[in-house]
Amino acid sequence: MNNLTPQKVTQYSLAHRPKVFENVKGQDNIVKEMLQRSKMNKFPSAMLFQGPTGTGKTTLAFLAAAAIQCKHKDEKGNPCGECATCKDIFDEKFSRGCTHMLDGSSSSKDDVIDLIEQTVHTVPLHGPKHVFIIEEIDQLSTAAKNSFHKFLEKPSPYVHFILLSMADSGGSKVPQSIMDRCQPYYFKNITERDVAYTLKHILAEEGLWDELPAEFKKEGIFLIVNNAKGSLRRAIQFLERAMIGEFFTVKEIEDNFKFLSESSSLGTLKMMIEGEGKKLSNELEAMRKENKAVDWVFLVSFFLFRHRQNVMTGEKVDESPSSSLLGKLYSKQPAVYKELEKGIKSISEEVRHGSYMTSTHVSHLLVDLYEKIEKARKGDSVPYR
Ligand SMILES: Nc1ncnc2c1ncn2[C@@H]1O[C@H](COP(=O)(O)OP(=O)(O)O)[C@@H](O)[C@H]1O
Ligand SMILES: [Mg+2]
Ligand SMILES: [Zn+2]
Repeated sequence: MNNLTPQKVTQYSLAHRPKVFENVKGQDNIVKEMLQRSKMNKFPSAMLFQGPTGTGKTTLAFLAAAAIQCKHKDEKGNPCGECATCKDIFDEKFSRGCTHMLDGSSSSKDDVIDLIEQTVHTVPLHGPKHVFIIEEIDQLSTAAKNSFHKFLEKPSPYVHFILLSMADSGGSKVPQSIMDRCQPYYFKNITERDVAYTLKHILAEEGLWDELPAEFKKEGIFLIVNNAKGSLRRAIQFLERAMIGEFFTVKEIEDNFKFLSESSSLGTLKMMIEGEGKKLSNELEAMRKENKAVDWVFLVSFFLFRHRQNVMTGEKVDESPSSSLLGKLYSKQPAVYKELEKGIKSISEEVRHGSYMTSTHVSHLLVDLYEKIEKARKGDSVPYR
């Protein structure tokens, strides 16, 4: 394993940040629209990218900014990535060009307005437009938020704003006055499948995939995928640490990252399947307290998914312990299996789309699911006539 020494490990999340639109995973509708707009050179004067962390907001903001500025785009609408304007953006050297990166949560957050004020009326010298990317727009002070909307009120053809926020639409702190004047884009958590593909792709590009032990490729990587809970950034960070620390076995990964362990989640799954209500509710309560109920849903949805097919290869897998547990259920108690699959699927969808699902809420949903499974079990035990 001496090829996996730390000097071979670059900062994955930066090195592998997509520089063409198609490489942004899991935000297909947004990507498609951005490419179309890029071809037509028709970007809204203000866009709001909203959604959970690590799902590609900053990445797409860079791409959109480059698409607005670059004069050498390809026929699909991708920025060239090579010209000075593109380089400044992708290398994050914003002081040089006409793309400005500001942060609503930094210590100088109230200077954001002044900075825009000073720039917005000047002629853009190094590009066709001024593009302002503002991270964490919801973190601006109330006064700054109030004065910000004046920039949006009188849009100029030379100015674009790309506003980013992690605040979800429920308890949103992006004021309505800003929301009303932006095109909103909602980013989704990334599915296990897309996270797994991306991690494998990174390992292949780093030249590491072929050298990795089978246990990592078969089990370890999935544990990482799963515990990243839909954030590609988090997944990539875990991956990088696993490579540097040489954590390749399930045990090493569980121990080092304090992940919810595969065996303990399988144990709970077994309780749910076998109707051990009392034990299960104790387990669920413990998971709720440790904030692990959400992790559990992600892991179990992944087991179910893998039971049907291997994420990487598309082949059916049946050698893992989760598959033998689920395989038995599938053939012996089809109604329970169906209920479990349906229930976990809908809870995990909810978790995926609502960025702030609490562990308490999820454990309530799991109790409901357990009751449905109990009903289904009765159906299964009635002999077919
Ligand atoms: N949708 C995505 N497709 C491909 N890579 C992604 C995606 N989202 C995040 N990443 C990876 O994670 C890193 C951080 O993503 P970023 O765009 O900064 O997330 P956000 O701004 O939503 O928190 C990127 O550099 C990239 O490597
Ligand atoms: Mg970001
Ligand atoms: Zn370019």
